[in-house]
Amino acid sequence: MCGIVGYIGQRQAYPILIKGLHRLEYRGYDSAGIALINPAGELGVFKTKGKVADLEALVANRDVSGTVGIGHTRWATHGEPNDANAHPHYSQTKNLALIHNGIIENYAVIKNELKGHGYNFRSETDTEVLVQFIEYVKSSGNLDLFHAVQVALSQVVGAYAIAVIDKNNPDCIVAARKSSPLVIGIGEGEYFLGSDASPIIEYTDQVVYLEDEQVALISRSHGLDVRNLSDVEQTPEVKTLQLSLSQLEKGGYPHFMLKEINEQPDTLVNCISGRIDPAGTDVILSGVINNKEKFLNAKRIIMVACGTSWHAGMIGKYLIEDLCRIPVDVEYASEFRYRNPVLGKGDIVIAISQSGETADTLAAIQEARKAGAFVYGICNAVGSSIARATHSGSYIHVGPEIGVASTKAFTGQVMVLSMLALTLGKLKGTIKKGEYRDLIKDLISIPTKMKQVLLLDPLIDEMSKIFTYAHNFLYLGRGYNYPAAMEGALKLKEISYIHAEGYPAAEMKHGPIALVDAEMPVVVLATADRIYEKTVSNIQEIKARKGKVIAVVTEGDTVASSLADYVIAVPPTNERFTALVTAIPLQLLAYHIAVNKGKDVDQPRNLAKSVTVE
Ligand code: G6P
Repeated sequence: MCGIVGYIGQRQAYPILIKGLHRLEYRGYDSAGIALINPAGELGVFKTKGKVADLEALVANRDVSGTVGIGHTRWATHGEPNDANAHPHYSQTKNLALIHNGIIENYAVIKNELKGHGYNFRSETDTEVLVQFIEYVKSSGNLDLFHAVQVALSQVVGAYAIAVIDKNNPDCIVAARKSSPLVIGIGEGEYFLGSDASPIIEYTDQVVYLEDEQVALISRSHGLDVRNLSDVEQTPEVKTLQLSLSQLEKGGYPHFMLKEINEQPDTLVNCISGRIDPAGTDVILSGVINNKEKFLNAKRIIMVACGTSWHAGMIGKYLIEDLCRIPVDVEYASEFRYRNPVLGKGDIVIAISQSGETADTLAAIQEARKAGAFVYGICNAVGSSIARATHSGSYIHVGPEIGVASTKAFTGQVMVLSMLALTLGKLKGTIKKGEYRDLIKDLISIPTKMKQVLLLDPLIDEMSKIFTYAHNFLYLGRGYNYPAAMEGALKLKEISYIHAEGYPAAEMKHGPIALVDAEMPVVVLATADRIYEKTVSNIQEIKARKGKVIAVVTEGDTVASSLADYVIAVPPTNERFTALVTAIPLQLLAYHIAVNKGKDVDQPRNLAKSVTVE
């Protein structure tokens, strides 16, 4: 949802900005731009529709010298992706240039006011309104840039992470945030800015995460000064990054998504390490143990999340109701935050988010806190806004996920939810001792099973060729396989643009079966579980209508396999954890179909990795 970078120091800013933009491209990639102040004191803005590579081509023969600059990669909210709407935006006099991630909700009112003062606009964006407004406040109030930003932002409604530079003061960058992330990297006499730490990591591991409504004056000569909107000095907490450069690179894979699919056996080992004792007899999720009373007394648990994380939440519901006997609701964060839910003390809200920055999930957390609920976060990005906004939580520890379609974060989330259910079930005494041990044994065998499933890649690649030109897909499953089917369908539609629906297998009779004909591929998750026979009946119903069935079954299966047109067999797994194993063939199928279609797998059209607008 837009990536922003910045640099001020002694080095040339351009290569740092471009490299940073490539790293942040996962956040948005419909246009890109940079602004630099060159040694002659000119403030140049270079921007274009398209990707960062298009920006590089644009500036190939231009003067991009300068030791202070800002850069942006966009995911359009206001105004279509075109050159004019790309960031940075100049102010009226072209003395200021600004980049922005977020949405200014009251931009129309401010724009009208500014028009009354003779301002005119070159783009349709809310961002241009903000930079013009800052300039107006600066000149009408005779303020310096830093104070003008404070005053302007006090009148702004919405979300922002911004960086502004001023032609008349090339010694500083002013940056601020509210509800959109912003990290400042601190080097030797130089500073870096990023929407996350990825553009910063190779220069310094010392960072400050700006808090909401903080404004930073980043000066080459005077260092870092952080204040709030009322100009009260803030003490920034300098943290040391735990990220390595190799985690941000493709490591020989053609796409980040394929790398991330293949990483899953290792990322899950990381996720369980220190939480399941080496002998495999106990699971200790410290976030649950530390809040034991709250979890034991919970009347109800509500999961709030979006996209893939919502699917993980659905699996969490099945696990917690099944193993802990606590009622669980799963809500889309965007609905929850606006629909006045019944909520109060004694409720636990579990917010699930890979990025930890999703605007709707963050707002749902705020609603939950206001209502007095205890809020627990399940995040991947350490130090993210959601991790900080929750009372307690667990990280999934799967490393940075760059591919826009979530893969290893999904299995990490399901793994943490599985450990949460086991920890809580043991505390509540709702799981029998023997079963508890068996389940732990099964859970620690998952990474090895995933490795086996990854060996099916050539088979799935072959299979994908048959379905590359399908227009629709159905994904069906019952019980734990139902949310897994929804996630499989989401993967396919996100990256191949084939319309796909995930449905409870039996519910198919109440509508989707009307779509089934010889042209319709239907992926059925028919692994060995309590309701396997019922799923087999659903396969028969599809076959009776000549649908093409791709069945994901358990090794050794005969019945579903004999009915299906194509079979993918996965190792036997306790049904509660099957989604962790079946996720892989569904991810691979989507991946290969998208590659066959020549689609941009890591950066699918219209999507973004981190959705920091509502
Ligand atoms: C976007 C991403 C999805 C992700 C969803 C929720 O739509 O493209 O991959 O599942 O946001 O993101 P979160 O970071 O909160 O898990």
